[in-house]
Amino acid sequence: SILIVDFGSQVTQLIARRVREAGVYSEIAPFQSAADAYARIRPKGIILSGGPASVLDEGSPRIPDAILQSGLPIMGICYGQQALTQQLGGRVEKGMGGEFGEAFVAVDAPCALFDGLWAEGDRHQVWMSHGDHVAELAPGFRPVASSRGAPFAIIADDDRRIYAMQFHPEVVHTPDGAKLIANFVRHVCGLAGDWTMAEFRAAKIAEIREQVGTSKVICGLSGGVDSSVAALLIHEAIGDQLTCVFVDGGILRAGEAEQVVGLFRGYYNIPLVHVQAQDLFMDGLAGVTDPEAKRKFIGKTFIDVFEAEAKKIGGADFLAQGTLYPDVIESVSFTGGPSVTIKSHHNVGGLPERMNMKLVEPLRELFKDEVRVLGRELGLPDVFVGRHPFPGPGLAIRIPGEVTRERCDILRKADAIYLEEIRAAGLYDAIWQAFAVLLPVRTVGVMGDARTYDYVLALRAVTSVDGMTAQAFSFPGDFLPRVATRIINEVKGVNRVTYDYTSKPPGTIEWE
Ligand code: XMP
Repeated sequence: SILIVDFGSQVTQLIARRVREAGVYSEIAPFQSAADAYARIRPKGIILSGGPASVLDEGSPRIPDAILQSGLPIMGICYGQQALTQQLGGRVEKGMGGEFGEAFVAVDAPCALFDGLWAEGDRHQVWMSHGDHVAELAPGFRPVASSRGAPFAIIADDDRRIYAMQFHPEVVHTPDGAKLIANFVRHVCGLAGDWTMAEFRAAKIAEIREQVGTSKVICGLSGGVDSSVAALLIHEAIGDQLTCVFVDGGILRAGEAEQVVGLFRGYYNIPLVHVQAQDLFMDGLAGVTDPEAKRKFIGKTFIDVFEAEAKKIGGADFLAQGTLYPDVIESVSFTGGPSVTIKSHHNVGGLPERMNMKLVEPLRELFKDEVRVLGRELGLPDVFVGRHPFPGPGLAIRIPGEVTRERCDILRKADAIYLEEIRAAGLYDAIWQAFAVLLPVRTVGVMGDARTYDYVLALRAVTSVDGMTAQAFSFPGDFLPRVATRIINEVKGVNRVTYDYTSKPPGTIEWE
C-alpha cells in the first residue's frame, strides 16, 4: 500500500483517489500521526501532500524522521516538495505573490515518473498553487522539468527514489497527473495495481469475524447506500448475530420505508426492527423553525429511539456504522485554526460512548463510489446502489419553517412526481441529487375559475462529483414546465413551482 502524509491540503483526498485508481490501496494519515501510521501499515511508498503552511515559519509541519530514513520511494507534492528540500539540506524561499492556476512545464530530462508518458522537450499543462518555492536543491537532486515561475517544477533523486513537484498532479487541471501518480506507485514503488473490491470484501469479512467473535451487532439502517452496504457486508460475515434497526420518523420520501423493509427483511432475510416513531418526531418538531435546532432535535431523537430499541434487543456489544473515508478525514484540523460549522451533519455520533458499545465501521477506508462498487459486488440492486444521497434529517430540512405532518405529506407527493419524471426522462443517473423543497410561503393563483392561495414549491437538481461543490442541472427545455404542471394539478396545497439555479458555493445543496 501507499501512505499519504497529509499536510492539510484541501485536495489530499484526491491523491488517495488517484492511487486507488491505479489499483493500489492507500491510506491518508495527518502528519502528526504519520510515523505511527507508517509503522502500522508498512507501506511500500510514501506521498507527501500539499498544505497551507510555509516551511519557513517557526513550528511548521515536518516529515517524520522515520519516513525520511525509511529508504522507501517518496513523492512530494507542493508543500511536500518544500519540506523534503528543506529537511534534506536544500533551501526554500518565500515567493513574491506565488503562482496560482494553470501553468506549463517543459520536460528537461528523463525521469521514472515520465515512463511511457512524457518525453524530453515536451510541454504539458499542470495546476500550480503555491506561495513559496524551492530555491536551491538538496544534495542528490536534479531538476527534470521546469516552468516559467518554477525552475524546479519537478525534481528527482534517482538513487534514493525521491521525486517532488511544485504543482498538483492529483487535480483534474493537471491532465496527466493521474498517470504521473500511477507511474510512481507502479513503476517506482513496484506495486502491482491489482487491488480490487472482491479482495476488499473478503478481507473485510475476515476482519469483521475476528473483531466481533460471537457477539451481537446492531446497525442503524437509514435507507441510504452506506448503511445498507455496511449491513450487508456484516451480515455476510456474521449472519444473524446482526440486527438492523430502521427508525421511521415521518421524514422519509414516498415509498422509502417499504423499500428498505422489503429489501432487508424480505429479500435478504436480515433481522430488522422497523420503529414507527412518526409521532415522537412530529410532536418534537412542532414550532421548531431554526435549521440547526431541527437538525439537533432529529439527531438526538434518532439516538434516543435507537438506544431504546437496542436495549430491547439486548446484549449487543457492537454498533455498526456506515462511516465513509471522507467522514473520517474531514474531521481532522491541520492548521489548528477554527473550522467553521456550516451545518451540523447528523450521524449517530455520541451513541457508542453513551451505550458503552464498540464500533464496527467496515467502510471507513472507502469513498462513496467505491461503496457503490462494493454494493454491486454484494448483489445490492442497481436502483438501490445508484440512489441519490439523502440527508439524515430527511424532509425536515427541505421544509424551511415549521415541519408538520401536512407539509411532509405535500412535499412527499411533489417530490415523488419530480423523481418519477426524472427517471422517466432517463436523467436520474446524470444528476447527483434532485429533490423538492416546500416553502413556507403562500401565493395567489387561479385554478378553474377559483382563486387559490397555496404553497410555493422549489425544485432542485445538481451535478457534483463529491457533494463539496455543485452546479444546478440544466434540464431540457420542456421538462420543468411539464413537471410544474403535473405537481400543481396533482398535489393539493401547491399552486406555484420554481427552480433553484444556485451553485454550491455560494449556496449549499440542501436548503437548510
Ligand atoms: P449541503 O447541503 O451541505 O449538502 O451542500 C452536501 C451533501 O450532504 C448531504 N447532507 C447530509 N447528509 N446528514 C447526511 O447524512 C445530514 O445532516 C446532511 N446534510 C446534508 C446533502 O444531501 C448533500 O448530498
